[in-house]
Amino acid sequence: MFRTINASTRLSCPLRPAPWNAFAKRSFSTTSYVFAQRAVKYETNGEPSSVISTITYPDLPAPSPDSVNIKFLLSPINPADVNVIQGVYPANKTAQQLLPEAQIFVAGNEGVAVVQQAGSDAGLAEGDWVIMAKQQAGTWASASCVTARDVIKVPKEIGEVHAATITVNPPTAYNMLRDFVDLKEGDWVLQNGANSAVGEAVIQIAAHRKLRTINFVRNRHNIDDVKQHLQSLGATHVFTYDDLSSKERLKHIKSLTKGKDPRLFLNCVSGKDTTTMLRLLGSDATVVSYGAMSKQPLSIPTSYFIFKDLKCTGFWQSRWYNTHTREERVTVMNEIVKVIREGKLREPEHEIVTIPGSASEEEATTMVREVMKRVEAGAGRKVLLRVEEVP
Ligand SMILES: NC(=O)c1ccc[n+]([C@@H]2O[C@H](COP(=O)([O-])OP(=O)(O)OC[C@H]3O[C@@H](n4cnc5c(N)ncnc54)[C@H](OP(=O)(O)O)[C@@H]3O)[C@@H](O)[C@H]2O)c1
Repeated sequence: MFRTINASTRLSCPLRPAPWNAFAKRSFSTTSYVFAQRAVKYETNGEPSSVISTITYPDLPAPSPDSVNIKFLLSPINPADVNVIQGVYPANKTAQQLLPEAQIFVAGNEGVAVVQQAGSDAGLAEGDWVIMAKQQAGTWASASCVTARDVIKVPKEIGEVHAATITVNPPTAYNMLRDFVDLKEGDWVLQNGANSAVGEAVIQIAAHRKLRTINFVRNRHNIDDVKQHLQSLGATHVFTYDDLSSKERLKHIKSLTKGKDPRLFLNCVSGKDTTTMLRLLGSDATVVSYGAMSKQPLSIPTSYFIFKDLKCTGFWQSRWYNTHTREERVTVMNEIVKVIREGKLREPEHEIVTIPGSASEEEATTMVREVMKRVEAGAGRKVLLRVEEVP
């Protein structure tokens, strides 16, 4: 499907690091443009399945010396992306704004892309794979033009899925296991939401460090399969929140650590069950909250602070990126790549949804809205978008 515009606009990239600079920077000539790229955008906040749609935009002009034109290979849909579109997440929306003067935003924070054309000073070459160093880069798109400092080269050997998902969940797990409690081999870590992408990364990175984990998930008809899966990743024990309602079960779970109570509790969920899980902690433990999937507050009895010296804090990978250097970011990425290379960190359970270039705008919009409906309802596994160029 070719759509052209007889605009007298000379495309120049980038005014700002995004393909839509093509629209933004206007100087006049007599060019005719082919609309060959596609992005998933929203103009108002709301439920993604209602407010997102697709848009086509012109093929990218040649990059400026410090920039690269990239083609996105895979871009995950993370829970935070939903919150950004809903307007309830403290993200810098202007980073993904389509036009400086218009309230049109391209969705997507994470993703892997291949360099298609590199500026002379970019330090990257055609064919290199890159991940985003800039947050809210608008990754649910077929292509973009970015400055070289806003991307980081990633080794191709880890594969598209690992590369597409290496910026958010594995570093969250890696940093939470490193930054709060000085954990030694054999120590115990407690977590809920253990079958989330972050939870699974926690299990694997902890096992790689020879830490032991007590993991909690919601009960379901195939709970034995879930337990088996998490144990195959390296989980030491897996329980459901139902186990928390019996004093006997709690006593049993507590006895498993043989007096070496967990000193780190990674909280993805909050709510009443999380409060009950505090009973499994020892003295001087730290609760690190990074998610609130139950949408309930976290309530902590005062006695835990007084008598057990409990510490409660939060972790946000975005803040970590904002407060650490590019070198520190690359170091953590390389550490995770090492774990992947050793075969100790599996790809997240995922499905790839392709938005074909042959689809009309209406068809493409319907497809992405359907996907978002499933994600909002809890898709069960990570959905990765592949937005194709429009032929
Ligand atoms: N702070 C940070 O830097 C950071 C970084 C990455 C992710 N996160 C957050 O971490 C959370 C997980 O992210 P992810 O990408 O790993 O998600 P994910 O793979 O989509 O997993 C979602 C998890 O939430 C559980 N869940 C959903 N609704 C629940 C409820 N009402 N009660 C209890 N559990 C519920 C799911 O369990 P079921 O299988 O039972 O549905 C699943 O384990 C999200 O809140 C995300 O925003 C935070």
